[in-house]
Amino acid sequence: SMVDKGGYPHFMLKEINEQGAVLRRSMLDRIFHGEVDLSRELSWSSESAKRIKRLHLVACGTSYYAALVAERLIERFSDLDIRVDIASEYRYRDIPIGNDTLAVFVTQSGETLDTLAAERFAKEKGARCMAITNNGLSTVAREVDDVLSLKAGPEIGVAATKTFMGQMTVLYLMGLYLLKLREELSLGDEMRLVREMEVLPYKVESLIDRADEIKAIASRYCEARDFLFLGRGFSFPIAMEGALKLKEISYIHAEAYAAGEMKHGPIALLDRSVPVVVVMPDDNLFEKTLSNVQETKARNSPVIAIATEGRKSILGQAEDVMWVPKTDMELNPFLAVIPLQIFAYYVALAKGKEIDQPRNLAKSVTVE
Ligand code: G6P
Repeated sequence: SMVDKGGYPHFMLKEINEQGAVLRRSMLDRIFHGEVDLSRELSWSSESAKRIKRLHLVACGTSYYAALVAERLIERFSDLDIRVDIASEYRYRDIPIGNDTLAVFVTQSGETLDTLAAERFAKEKGARCMAITNNGLSTVAREVDDVLSLKAGPEIGVAATKTFMGQMTVLYLMGLYLLKLREELSLGDEMRLVREMEVLPYKVESLIDRADEIKAIASRYCEARDFLFLGRGFSFPIAMEGALKLKEISYIHAEAYAAGEMKHGPIALLDRSVPVVVVMPDDNLFEKTLSNVQETKARNSPVIAIATEGRKSILGQAEDVMWVPKTDMELNPFLAVIPLQIFAYYVALAKGKEIDQPRNLAKSVTVE
C-alpha cells in the first residue's frame, strides 16, 4: 500500500509519533508574524463574522471531543451562542438554526453518515456550513461553504490520534480568526496563544520521547477491569478522549466524568480495583480537581494523575504521575492527551489486542 508503518509495529504508534509534525503542518501558511490569517482559505469579512450569532460545532466520536475543547477556548472570549452536539442528536433536534448560524462539521473522514446528514439539516435551515476535515475531497467537504483541512496525512489506525491533534489545531485557528474578525480577541491574547501554539510541537515531541515512562505505568494497570477518567474545564474532554482510546483498543470498560460530577454516581463504584485517571494540569481548576483526588483516595482507588512538571505535591496524592510540560491553560489539551494515547496503546499491547483494527469498530461509519 501507499502508506506503510515506517518501522513501527503498529500504525497507531506511528501516528502518535507524527503529532509534532501534524501540529506544524496544520499551522503552516495560517500564521504570519504571530497572527492568525485564514484569508487564503476563507472568504470571511469582519461584517459577515459579526453577523453570526450562533456557532454550532457538530461531530461524532473523537472529533466531538476536539469540538468540546475548542468550545472552551472560544467561549472565553466571545458573545456567541455556542452549541456543541453529537451529529446523530443534532440532526433530530428542533433548535434555532438560521442564516445567523455558523455550523462547523468536524469530521476526519468527511464521510460519516450522521455528520453528513447533520450538515444537510443545517444547510436546509439556512446556516453557513463549514467542514474541518482530513479529506478535502470528501462528501462533506464538497457540500459546505467553507473547508479547512487538517493536513495530517492518511490515518490508518482506527483509533484516531494525530487527526485529533490536527482537529484541535485547526479548530483553534478557526476560532481565533473568527474572534479576531468579530473584534472579540485582543491582539495580546492572540499573540500569546499563537506564540505558545508554535512551541507546542517541541513539547509534544519531548513527551513522546518519554513514552517508556507511560509504558511502565501501563504495565501496572493492564489487569484492571474498570477505569474512571476525570477532568474539569479544558481537561474534561481530554478525560473523555482518554477513556475512549482505552476502551476502543483494550476493550476495558472506561468511563469519563466531569470531576465535580463524580459524587453524583461513579463514586459508588470506587474501590482499590478501580484505577482513576485524573487529568489535572495547572490551570484555574487545579485545586478543585485536587479535592476530587482526595475523595477518590479515601475510597482506596489508585490515582494516576496527568500533571504539570514541577507540581511535586502531586507525588504525595497519586500512585502514578504522567508529567506534561507547562503551557498556557487553553493549550493544556494538546499535551495532556499524549500520555493518554500512549497509555491506551501500551495497555492494549500488554493484553495482546488487535491495536490498529479493533473488533466491531470502523474507521469511518457510513451507516446510520
Ligand atoms: C469512527 C472512528 C472514530 C472517529 C469517528 C468519527 O467511530 O472509529 O475514530 O472519531 O468515527 O469519524 P469522523 O471521520 O467523522 O471524524
